[in-house]
Amino acid sequence: MENFTFYAPTYFAFGKDTENETGSYVKRFGGKKVLIHYGGGSVIRSGLLDRVKKSLEAEAIPYVELGGVMPNPRSGLVYEGIDLCRKEQVDFILAVGGGSTIDSAKAIAAGVPYDGDFWDYYQGKVVNEALPIGTVLTISAAGSEGSPDSVITKEEGMYKRGATGEALRAKFTIMNPALTQTLPPFQTACGITDIMAHLYERYLTNTKEVECTDRMIEALMLTMIHEGTRAMEDPDNYEARANIMWAGMMAHNNSCGVGRSQDWTSHDVEHELSALYDCAHGAGLAVVMPAVFTYNLQHDVMRFAKVAVRVWGCQMDFDHPERTAAEGIEALRRFLTSIGMPANFKELGADEKDIERMAHSCCYGDARTGTIGGFVSLDQKDVENIYRLMV
Ligand code: NZQ
Ligand code: ZN
Repeated sequence: MENFTFYAPTYFAFGKDTENETGSYVKRFGGKKVLIHYGGGSVIRSGLLDRVKKSLEAEAIPYVELGGVMPNPRSGLVYEGIDLCRKEQVDFILAVGGGSTIDSAKAIAAGVPYDGDFWDYYQGKVVNEALPIGTVLTISAAGSEGSPDSVITKEEGMYKRGATGEALRAKFTIMNPALTQTLPPFQTACGITDIMAHLYERYLTNTKEVECTDRMIEALMLTMIHEGTRAMEDPDNYEARANIMWAGMMAHNNSCGVGRSQDWTSHDVEHELSALYDCAHGAGLAVVMPAVFTYNLQHDVMRFAKVAVRVWGCQMDFDHPERTAAEGIEALRRFLTSIGMPANFKELGADEKDIERMAHSCCYGDARTGTIGGFVSLDQKDVENIYRLMV
C-alpha cells in the first residue's frame, strides 16, 4: 500500500424527510445568503425545491435561485452563476439535484473567489479556495456529493474536463433515498453503471498488497449487483434505494481508493462520448467499460480473474486464467444489458466516423499531453482501437 492522506469532512444526513432540515444545516455551516442551484425541473415537479425553500425560510436565511443545469453541465451557466453570486453577495451554494447540478455548483463555488477564469481549474489547477457547498442529492450515480471533484463541459470545443481540490467537498450532504424513487428506469440504470465504473476505476491498480481496499470495492460491487437488480425490478423499494445511495457515495468519496494507484481510462474515454453526443455518462460507460477492460486484460490477467471470481462468481481456470478474466468482463456486460444499458456505438447513438477526433481530443485536447490511463498508459492509437471495439 502507498502512503496517503485522507480527510473527507462532509456531514451526511441520511434518511426519510431529511431534506426538511436543509435550512438548519446551512445555518450550522455558516451560510448567510444562499444560491439554490438546480437542474431542468425534476425538483420543481417533485415538490422538493419548495420543501428546501421552506426550510431556509424557517431559519430566516435569504436565497437567490439559478435553475437550468443540463446533464453534462456547461460552462455558460457557471459564468452566469458566478456573476449572480458576486452581485447578490452569496456566501453559500446549495445544490439540489444530481451530479450535474452538484458539479455546476462546485464550479460556481470555486469561481466566485477566484480572480482568473474558473476554467483554469479544469485544466489542472487545484482548487484550494471555494465558497462552502451543501447538497441535497436526488440521484445515486456520480458520487459528487462526497467527492472533491467536478466535471464541466466547455461549449467552445466541447471539452468535458474535471477539476479537483479538497475545497470542493460538500460541507453537508442530505441523502433521502425516497427522492430517487421518481427517477426514470433509464436514469436509475445509468446511476448503477456509473457507480460500478467508479469501483472498477479503483480496482484496476498497479499497487500490490491492497487487500483491505480490494475487499471494500468487491463488497460494494456485490451490493450494487444485488440492490441494483432489486431497484430495477421494484423502483419503489426504499431499502434497495437506500443501499444504492450509500454505496454510490462510498464508491467515490475515495475511502476505498486510498493507498493505491487508480485507472480512470474508462472515464476519460467516456467523457469524449458524452461531450460529443450529449449521451448520459452512465450509458456511455456501459459501452466503454467492457471495451477498455478487454483491451487492457493482458496487462494483469490475475487482477481481472480476481474480480471475475470474487464478484461475478466465475470458476477459476488455473490453466487458462485469461479465460476466467474474460468471463468476468462478459458477466459485467450481461449485467449492464440486463438493466437496460446500451452495448455498442449504435445503441448509444455514437458514430464510427468520429473515432479519430475523439481519440485525439482524449489524448491531446485542451492541455492534455498525449497519454491517458493509470493502469495501462494508452496513446491516441490505443484509444482509437478501444473505440473500435465498441462499434
Ligand atoms: O435536470 P433534472 O430535471 O433534475 O433531471 C435530471 C437529469 O435529467 C434527472 N433526475 C435527477 N434526479 C431525479 C431526476 N429525475 C427524476 N427524479 C429524480 N429524483 O436525471 C437526469 C440526470 O441527472 P444528472 O445530474 O446529470 O445525473 P448524474 O448524477 O448521473 O450526473 C452526471 C454528471 O456527473 C459527472 C458526469 O460526467 C455527468 O456530467 N460526473 C461527476 C463526478 C464527480 N463530480 O465526482 C464523477 C463522475 O464520474 C461523473 O463523471
Ligand atoms: Zn462516473
